Amino acid sequence: MSTGQPTTIHLPPPSQKGKISLEEAISRRRSIRDFTSEPVSQSQLSQILWAAQGISDMRWKYRTVPSAGATYPLEILVVCGRNGVDEIGEGIYHYSIAHHSLTLRYEGDVRADLARAALNQGFIYEAPLDIVICALYQRTTLGYGSRGERYVHMEVGHAGQNIYLQAAALGLATVAIGAFNDERVREVLQLDKQYKPLYIMPIGRPT
Ligand SMILES: Cc1cc2nc3c(=O)[nH]c(=O)nc-3n(C[C@H](O)[C@H](O)[C@H](O)COP(=O)(O)O)c2cc1C
Repeated sequence: MSTGQPTTIHLPPPSQKGKISLEEAISRRRSIRDFTSEPVSQSQLSQILWAAQGISDMRWKYRTVPSAGATYPLEILVVCGRNGVDEIGEGIYHYSIAHHSLTLRYEGDVRADLARAALNQGFIYEAPLDIVICALYQRTTLGYGSRGERYVHMEVGHAGQNIYLQAAALGLATVAIGAFNDERVREVLQLDKQYKPLYIMPIGRPT
């Protein structure tokens, strides 16, 4: 049932100045699996998504994360829980990189289903929101053949590390999750077969 929430959410512009140094963020980075139920702010979510895949060069549209041949195979989905993010309803959203906005794909809280698809790792449900990084391999394998697959895996590591460091800089908690059933995650997120989920990263305030 529709609650009339907007289908496009324009995120606040990301900041390029932080409160702690890169060295501090690296040293504070940790996998944290205990989250409070407090919502994340829109500016924190904006910052995390920008770090994961945002555009950092307006002229050439290069991103915050390196990509083999700038083929950019990654797509990012945000699974928002009820009251997960200030003034954003529960649902599955696609991160529109070009517009730095979110597009609603499904209205409803699917965190419990996502946790079940990931070997019942309960913190996926407890976190106010989950980022899911998916790949469209053909974008990279078209030019690089089967070697492109390894490039995609390297790239998701860059994106995941950026999320970790940005979360540390914002005082937020996250953990990179690779243990899940691809097919079930795809079902929960209603994704086409060519989308391969590679990482789930819950985001929230540490307890
Ligand atoms: C590829 C990969 C997959 C991972 N999968 C999971 C996972 O499914 N569940 C989980 O709780 N942690 C997962 N982790 C996080 C590791 O357990 C964690 O990085 C490790 O214990 C070291 O702790 P640290 O990240 O705090 O340094 C994964 C990490 C990587 C790099």
